[in-house]
This record gives sequence, structure tokens and C-alpha cells, in this order.
Amino acid sequence: MDTPLVVGRCADASSHHRSAGYRHPALDAVVTRLTCPHCTGPLHRSARTVRCPSGHTFDIARPGYLSLLPGRRTHRGDDPAMVGARESFLDSDHYRPLRSTITALATEHAPTETELVVDLAGGTGHYLAPVLDALPAASGVIVDLSTAALRRAARAHRRAAAIAADVWQPLPITTGSAGVVLSVFGPRNAEEVERVLPEGGILVVASARPDHLRELRAHVGGIGVDPQKADRHRRAFAGLELAERQIVQWRLALGRDEARALVRMGPNAHHLGTGGDDDPLSRLPEPVGLTAAMDVAVYRRRRSREPMTGEVDRGSR
Ligand SMILES: C[S@@+](CC[C@H](N)C(=O)[O-])C[C@H]1O[C@@H](n2cnc3c(N)ncnc32)[C@H](O)[C@@H]1O
Ligand SMILES: [Zn+2]
Repeated sequence: MDTPLVVGRCADASSHHRSAGYRHPALDAVVTRLTCPHCTGPLHRSARTVRCPSGHTFDIARPGYLSLLPGRRTHRGDDPAMVGARESFLDSDHYRPLRSTITALATEHAPTETELVVDLAGGTGHYLAPVLDALPAASGVIVDLSTAALRRAARAHRRAAAIAADVWQPLPITTGSAGVVLSVFGPRNAEEVERVLPEGGILVVASARPDHLRELRAHVGGIGVDPQKADRHRRAFAGLELAERQIVQWRLALGRDEARALVRMGPNAHHLGTGGDDDPLSRLPEPVGLTAAMDVAVYRRRRSREPMTGEVDRGSR
């Protein structure tokens, strides 16, 4: 039961934390796993800021996400219209088979001691939330650049913290601390993924297959998928071994507005018009039947002595 407290000025930081505006239990649970983006020092929270021992200070935004960007951003991530479309489409649950597969594979392969799950370019945290439900001892971090996504991500789950950071830069996360990393349709930096995984830690990658939404291509150009994508992933993660890969394929039957949200949430939003005669989706049949086809792969960070012990003791796991 939450008792509203008056937020006032006082010298004792612990009473600030008890105040309504300063409660960030998800951030407090993960802050020791976060690092300063300037000097990689450890971070501590005090009221609405997080600092390192060298005095670098980062603000917790009012919506509850923490910005750990070292300077000006060169890229802003998804804009509010894309994030709004994504939230509306994902809330309709049409991607439930994908979400269930990600959750099942992540929980099945997660090391038993997993305390931290990182959702890279995690958007609104849609795929992280059920994984945290299934791993009750774990906390989560959603990393994204988009302010609109981070506002939602900060509310994705009571054990998830939202962090503004660029996945192409060194991640502000301590080495070997994330038992599970999720990467769902977003950019990822293989070197940094391998650094934050402990031995035995897993990366779950979801990506579109070449025939994903193939029926839409006739109406909206430019939504082709690289047919070599799965192979490229395999080559990129040299320090990881493929533990399992599933193809998730199902049929979507979408209303025109749902189809529009699906296109608007992706990089092809500019192929759409205003919803009038210039909008290629206004000529779609309704409902429109589409193929959904995804690859979900689990990669495991090798244990350093794994090949040798595997050869000696063939019966053990
Ligand atoms: C296609 S969306 C996927 C979001 C989420 N994983 C999902 O499937 O719902 C890609 C996400 O990557 C974020 N993004 C793009 N570039 C980024 C970067 N360099 N660092 C962090 N996030 C980035 C965007 O803001 C967006 O939320
Ligand atoms: Zn610092």
C-alpha cells in the first residue's frame, strides 16, 4: 500500500528516497551494475541524480528514466510517432507468438544465478516484462536512445529500470553482469554484448525472416529483409555459441489501422501517406492477411574450459 509523502527539502538522502518523487526501486536494484559513461567508475544514487566518485553526475528524468549519455546524442532513436505506433500495435497482441517464444527461450536457457536481464534497444520494454515475470529473482535494464520509448520503458515492469544510452558506444554496464541480454529488432554491438555477459550468460536475438510481411511489399516499398541476416549474426558473435534457434511463423489478420500502425512503427513510416488517397495502405483489403516470420536465436557465452571438460566428461551437461 503506497502512502503519499510530502516531497520536501532535507539533508538526509535516505528520507528523500522514501519520498514519493524519489522512489526508484528498480533503479536502486541495478545501480551497482551500472557504470559512469565518462570514467567507467561505479555509480550511486542520491535523490534525483546518480553520481560516480569522480563527480560525474546524471539526472533521473521526471518520467523515471536515467540518462547515461556521455555527451550530445548524435542519434535520437525512434520518434514519438513511431513509438506510439509500436505501442499501439504491440498492445493488440498480434506478436504474441514472438513474445511467448522469446520468454520461453530466455527462461529456459538463462543461467540459474541470473540477476540482471538487459534489453538492448528495448523500446517500450514489451519483450523484457514477461521475461522478468518468469525470472522473479532478476532485475531488468532497458537501454534505448528514444525519449518517447524510455518514458514508457520506465513503467514497463516494477523490476525494470530504463536507461538512455547508445548501444553503439560502450555500454554503461559492468563487465559480466548480465545473465541474459535481449536484442529484439534493434541495433547491437557484438563486442559489448560479449563483454557484459558472464561465462554461460545468454543473448536472445529476434530478427525478421526474409518472408516476414512479404504481402505488404506490394503496397509499401523498401521493407525487404536481408536474407543473410541469421548467418551474419552467427559470424558477428564469435565468442558465443549457438544454443538454440527457432523459426516462429504465423498468420496475421489485421484491420487497416493495425496494418498502418505496423508499418508506422518501423523504418518505413515515410513510405506512407497521410491516410488519404496517397496512402498505399488505404487500398489494402480488410482484414489484410500477412505472413509473420521471425528467427529467435539463443547464443551462449562459452565457458573458458568448456570444450575440454565436455570431451572428458561426455555424459555431463
Ligand atoms: C525496431 S525498434 C525495437 C524496439 C523493441 N526491441 C521492440 O521490439 O519492441 C528499435 C529501437 O532501437 C532504438 N535505437 C535505435 N538506435 C539506437 C541506438 N544507437 N542506441 C540505443 N537504442 C537505439 C530505437 O529508439 C527503437 O526503440
Ligand atoms: Zn565518472
